[in-house]
Amino acid sequence: MQQHFNYSLKEYNTFGFDASCDRICFIEQEEDLEDLLPIQESVFILGGGSNVLFAKDISKVILKPTMSEILVIEENDDWLIVQVGAGKVWHEFVEWCVNNNYGGVENLSFIPGTVGAAPIQNIGAYGVELEQIFVGLHAYQLSSGNKEYFTKEVCAFGYRDSIFKQKLKGKYLVTDVQFKLTKHNHTLEYSYKPLQEFISASNQEPSVKGISEAVISIRQSKLPDPKEIGNAGSFFKNPIVDKSVFEKIKESHPNVPSYPVNETKVKIPAAWLIDQLGWKGHTVGDVGVHKKHALVLVNYGEGKGTDIVVLAKKITTSVKEKFQINLEREVQLVL
Ligand code: EPU
Repeated sequence: MQQHFNYSLKEYNTFGFDASCDRICFIEQEEDLEDLLPIQESVFILGGGSNVLFAKDISKVILKPTMSEILVIEENDDWLIVQVGAGKVWHEFVEWCVNNNYGGVENLSFIPGTVGAAPIQNIGAYGVELEQIFVGLHAYQLSSGNKEYFTKEVCAFGYRDSIFKQKLKGKYLVTDVQFKLTKHNHTLEYSYKPLQEFISASNQEPSVKGISEAVISIRQSKLPDPKEIGNAGSFFKNPIVDKSVFEKIKESHPNVPSYPVNETKVKIPAAWLIDQLGWKGHTVGDVGVHKKHALVLVNYGEGKGTDIVVLAKKITTSVKEKFQINLEREVQLVL
């Protein structure tokens, strides 16, 4: 296990904020955890740093898993179950699936982050959420050092949510995740409008590879690349509101987009709400709201985590005043 003290996290968060931590431990294998745990100090587990906001220096021990092996643990003629190390870069795993024509994760192409972080917030995009292909995961309890297996039911997945963001927040370190993938007769999902349009314009039969390519192209066209402009993807979750709230907005804004959730609730895109208030492209110092997508807050280079906190607060206040809707952060604020 490699460890460093008073270490800069600039390279380890996609906003590119220069916060430092007391100690960082790179967990290269499970034996490292067996040496380290149980741990009494305050710990933060870091994946790809693509969903975190470091607002100041962190007086915590950062644990960063780097195990990245892909193991086939069960298979037949139709499907296979793979177990993937938590440190594997998510899109590298997707590429492995697409190159082997294994179906299930193609809609989740190009999402930044690591495999171990993916179930924590049940990543989702273009009509697919991780829970649909998730089988189980192994995780170590930090306070005891015990290794446990979590089934899908126990993980209690929701929209950008799981037990690891609720009751078990900060208590476990995921070491590997298991997924079930199809070998043929793939269930291809392309009902999301821009994806459908892209697929029909390509004049090709939809395929695992075709969907992956389409998703990459759509994401690249509207979401900024963190290597060029610091950002953490969607900063807020799409709010789920009562239908009555939605109907009220519709009276003054007939074109308000929405996705049905159940009989009484609908999801309204936070990007649309923020966009209505003219925030898109707004900059304050070296941070701002991206010019192509109102849900993405950006660091143009020299911004600070606290600048993003202030900007986010202004946005949530204005959305609350205008639409009576509380926006919740999707990005995790680390203090
Ligand atoms: N919209 C605006 N203004 C904008 C951007 C979008 O009005 O600046 C409108 C669009 O016209 C559309 C609606 O908002 O009607 C939704 O926009 P989009 O399709 O871009 O999706 P989103 O709801 O903003 C969610 C996820 C994304 C995921 C996409 C595609 C959340 C919080 N975000 O965004 O996930 O890629 O759907 O499935 O659920 C992420 O989590 O980091 C992320 C990028």
